Amino acid sequence: MPDQSGPPLVLGIETSCDETGVALVRGDELLVDAVASSMDEHARFGGIIPEVASRAHLEAMIPTIERALGTADVDVSEVDAIAVTAGPGLVGPLTIGASAAKALALGLGKPLYGVNHVIGHAAVDALVDGPFPERFMALVVSGGHSSLLLVDDIATKVTELGSTLDDAAGEAFDKVGRLLGLPYPGGPHIDRLAREGNPAAIRFPRGLTAAKDQDKHAYDFSFSGLKTAVARWVETKRDAGEELPLPDVAASFAAAVADVLTAKTIAACHRHGVDTLVVGGGFSANSQLRDMAAERCAAEGITLRIPPIRYCTDNGAMIAALGSAVVAAGVAPSNLDIGVDSSMPLTTITV
Ligand code: KG4
Ligand code: ZN
Repeated sequence: MPDQSGPPLVLGIETSCDETGVALVRGDELLVDAVASSMDEHARFGGIIPEVASRAHLEAMIPTIERALGTADVDVSEVDAIAVTAGPGLVGPLTIGASAAKALALGLGKPLYGVNHVIGHAAVDALVDGPFPERFMALVVSGGHSSLLLVDDIATKVTELGSTLDDAAGEAFDKVGRLLGLPYPGGPHIDRLAREGNPAAIRFPRGLTAAKDQDKHAYDFSFSGLKTAVARWVETKRDAGEELPLPDVAASFAAAVADVLTAKTIAACHRHGVDTLVVGGGFSANSQLRDMAAERCAAEGITLRIPPIRYCTDNGAMIAALGSAVVAAGVAPSNLDIGVDSSMPLTTITV
């Protein structure tokens, strides 16, 4: 039997995209993280189909909750609070998770906390690397988001410094993957190719880094111009009947993305006097970003915290972790009539 003393036991439910995640967290301790993915069903469409994802969540929800409880040897009656992703994400999938969480909260008579998915991507790091410092920077990068957050308190005070104006980093990789003829999702394939190429072979543009962007978009990102530049470059080579140096294209493209992400993030750390950076989201698997962030943070005296990749992709632990922080901070629970918000602002930590 698990230890029943100590901080409240929080059950977290994540369903914002294609992963059904259920986890149990007590304080900063992760008891179990169960996940079921419908990615295989989406791969053949070359993108996530919300309707397919919703149905998969509906089927996976109860088995995943039961698997989590069983693995942790916890009876559902021992759960003290339920946390669930309230947004941002796909409305249908979010609704399945919220409905399950409400049913549990109602049935058990325990409080419900609707929390922000993107902030969860940062919160999960406390389960791995321990308590957060007083103030830190969080870079959350995935197929759906690229956001730079200044975190004063993960449960109560998060400021959005910037985000992408168009494509997310992972999305840009997936689109460039498609134009290079790679399977979906293209991100990991480009990463692999890039490791064999020369990142300085082609000088692709760095979006929103011009002097004129420093006022309004110092910490925002834009990857659509880069994607177009890659498309033009590839087209020119193909029209000329030349063979594409795929590893060099991949490496040069990946370097442009990693360069902008790390340069802006480190500038924000200096600007706000912050010496800890947490990186989260599925795109933090990217080798070019990891290598450049490690190198630049070390050179600038910034402590870099990146959880293992299974906690960077969507999972229940991130939601249980944020729920646990919110409960510990004494934040009021959500009402049982909360809705979900596909474009939930990043300053809204709980609803
Ligand atoms: O967090 P995640 O699993 O799902 C979203 O919430 O989007 O992130 C998946 C995204 C996809 O766009 C995928 O191509 C990208 O992250 N990705 C990568 C790598 N691994 C995953 N992109 C580049 N390099 C990688 N190694
Ligand atoms: Zn995510």
